[in-house]
Amino acid sequence: MAKPVIFSGIQPTGNLHIGNYLGAVKNWIELQNSGEYDCYFCVVDYHALTGDRTAEERREQIIHTAAELIAAGIDPDKVTFFVQSHVPAHTELGWIFNSVTPIAELERMTQYKDKSSQQTKNSNAGLFTYPTLMAADILLYHGKYVPVGEDQIQHLELTRDIARWFNNKYESYFPETKPLLTEIPRVKSLLEPTKKMSKSKGLGHVIELADEPDVIEKKLKKAVTATEGGGEAPGVENLLMLLKQFGTAAQYVAYTEAQENGSIRYGDLKADLGVAIAESFAGFRAKRKELLESKDAIAEILMKGAAKANVVAEKTITEVRTIIGVR
Ligand code: AMP
Ligand code: TRP
Repeated sequence: MAKPVIFSGIQPTGNLHIGNYLGAVKNWIELQNSGEYDCYFCVVDYHALTGDRTAEERREQIIHTAAELIAAGIDPDKVTFFVQSHVPAHTELGWIFNSVTPIAELERMTQYKDKSSQQTKNSNAGLFTYPTLMAADILLYHGKYVPVGEDQIQHLELTRDIARWFNNKYESYFPETKPLLTEIPRVKSLLEPTKKMSKSKGLGHVIELADEPDVIEKKLKKAVTATEGGGEAPGVENLLMLLKQFGTAAQYVAYTEAQENGSIRYGDLKADLGVAIAESFAGFRAKRKELLESKDAIAEILMKGAAKANVVAEKTITEVRTIIGVR
């Protein structure tokens, strides 16, 4: 029997950070290694086109993101690993989905509202139709499960609706998709711990997988631990959650107890956490460096992945063209 299909994507907009990793990429690798799924992992460059980058930066960034994913553990021999723009059916299906999606539903999307208000000089229509292209990414491969962070849930609910709208208007063709969340679906910013960790806020807010130990140490020193109005301290909670992921069980128990009985020293917590994170990604940093020395090899991996993806995507889009009556 065919294995259930998993699809997920990431924008080539900067180095991977521990939010991407704990919310999504770590899960991708576990799902890949379980051998139970047919996995598609995609560098979604056409989604990133909605941001501000030069062509040169974009070219570099696509290769960097691909190299980082491989360094983190994505194995192109076990999954279909490719770049979105290399498979033209994504944008074609995205257009078809635009025509079954009510404007009002796109207007509700919080990511669109946030991005279009942040990018006032570049509030383009791509930001608005971003979710229909995302639905196309997933549904081209009949994706059943989508491992993502919590911020993508709203888009996945819309993906389910888009499949229903299409199925009702034409014929029952696309499956229902479900998100797969991790234990930590929302890693918080170091400097604004009520918000999600995101590189768009600035590099001090995130720890990148590629950060050297001294950089991690410096960033953690500045991490906010103060309470707001005497209540819970979201920053401390976030750091303890990170220690649970990257430190030893004994460290986690000791600092959690110290936090409860009021004897915790945040300086010590940050120092231990910094060492634990830096050690966890020592192998990643070495592999990343090595991979980036042979960018042509990465490009070749991506071309092979695209060839595999295209076979499936072409079959779907050919069927869809018939279903909607353009062939
Ligand atoms: P992006 O970098 O926006 O393309 O995100 C790639 C993946 O990382 C998506 O599945 C996001 O939901 C996930 N992600 C991004 N930021 C965080 C965060 N702070 N916590 C958990 N997951 C995240
Ligand atoms: N929108 C996702 C993000 O910003 C990236 C993405 C594009 C995606 N297409 C996808 C994620 C399909 C999962 C499935 O993080």
